[in-house]
Amino acid sequence: MISKLHKSSLKETFFRAFSQCRAKTLALFDGIDKATFCCQPHPDFSPIGWHLGHIAYTESLWLLERSAGLPCLFPRYRKLFAADGLPKKERVKLPNLEEIRYYLDTVREKVLHYLEVADVEQQEPLWRFILQHESQHSEIISFVLELSKQERGEKDKEKEEQQRERVRHGGKLPSLPHSPHDLSEMIQIPAGEFEMGDDSVDALDNEQPLHRVYLETYSIDRYPVTCTQYRAFMTAGGYENPAWWSKAGWEWLQTEQVTQPLYWCENPMWDHHPVCGVSWYEAEAYSRFVGKRLPTEAEWEKAASWDAQAHCRRIYPWGNEQPTLKHCNHDNFIGKTTPVDAFSIGQSFYGLYDALGNVWEWTSSWFDGYLGFQSYPYVGYSQVYFDQQHRVLKGGSWATRPWALRCSFRNWYHPCVRQILAGFRCAAD
Ligand code: AVJ
Ligand code: FE
Repeated sequence: MISKLHKSSLKETFFRAFSQCRAKTLALFDGIDKATFCCQPHPDFSPIGWHLGHIAYTESLWLLERSAGLPCLFPRYRKLFAADGLPKKERVKLPNLEEIRYYLDTVREKVLHYLEVADVEQQEPLWRFILQHESQHSEIISFVLELSKQERGEKDKEKEEQQRERVRHGGKLPSLPHSPHDLSEMIQIPAGEFEMGDDSVDALDNEQPLHRVYLETYSIDRYPVTCTQYRAFMTAGGYENPAWWSKAGWEWLQTEQVTQPLYWCENPMWDHHPVCGVSWYEAEAYSRFVGKRLPTEAEWEKAASWDAQAHCRRIYPWGNEQPTLKHCNHDNFIGKTTPVDAFSIGQSFYGLYDALGNVWEWTSSWFDGYLGFQSYPYVGYSQVYFDQQHRVLKGGSWATRPWALRCSFRNWYHPCVRQILAGFRCAAD
């Protein structure tokens, strides 16, 4: 590698992180056929090929054009790959993988040249933003791939395979996964102040500024809601009973006519995995059914990140040690959900399991700026979504890259989106 980079450890850090991040992004495209590259398995999300081009576009815009002052390298891609260029359904006519790879590689080569001379200390938030931007789109690529897989019915194939397996074992059912833990346990969080948000150089605009929040005593589920628990809601006629639904939720249900989470699969192998593919409305209805409610974002964040003994916030539930596979299910190491009690080392101070990784968790809070919010690096990143139409999700999923995984990180979706990577846990007063 270019020797000059080794003089600055920050440049080295970026060189290594950018390379690692890119390698993992590209690995998602191994063996992908043309149809999967361009198809849109769900109207809410663009094809995976589009996300790949958009990663190059964004890196080029912010590091080459806005920072290095270079002219736009591929002006013909601007309209196609800018976030505000084309409506999602027109993003299916794409250059092929080789062409987009050439785009990515050309931009990256110039970025690494610029890294040699750039004042990275001064530009650190921007370089970190770009890394997190690629991380987030790479997570979206993972779940769009998951959606295509589900559309092809691969979960059912897995189920058939298991049934054949059972027949081979003389019709005897293999022992079902059994959890030694009481998965309906709640934790009481004592009243008091904690610190919310993040003021580190990694913090995105919507996490800043760090601020103190006082909360009364509340309880929160120790684990995300499991498929077994959610099944009880379904079998009790939860989808037919307006008593559990808010007015907006019931209206949503009448329009959508759904009776189970997106790609719900009736198979005991998922029993202790978190339920996922639910809209905010379904999460809200389930919570009411069990006599609970969704946690506010502040309640979620305190339970996940506050160390009440040391009176300080932790970046991760377990402390400040960078995430590895022993802490939580993230970064596509496993490629699917895991039982909610699988990561005891990843517990928070208060004992919350799976706060980070496995599935994103809906909260009751609208996405909004904290007092003193300032847009960075552009108004369209967060601020345009402060519209009382988006609910906050916390915690990351099995596909969240380490650069976007922390307790203060905020994700947001319309309450009607049934994100395959999103589940929830409940709270109570
Ligand atoms: C935070 C996941 C909602 O996908 O719109 C990517 C992330 N913003 N490029 C999105 C994002 C700009 C954002 N989410
Ligand atoms: Fe983007």
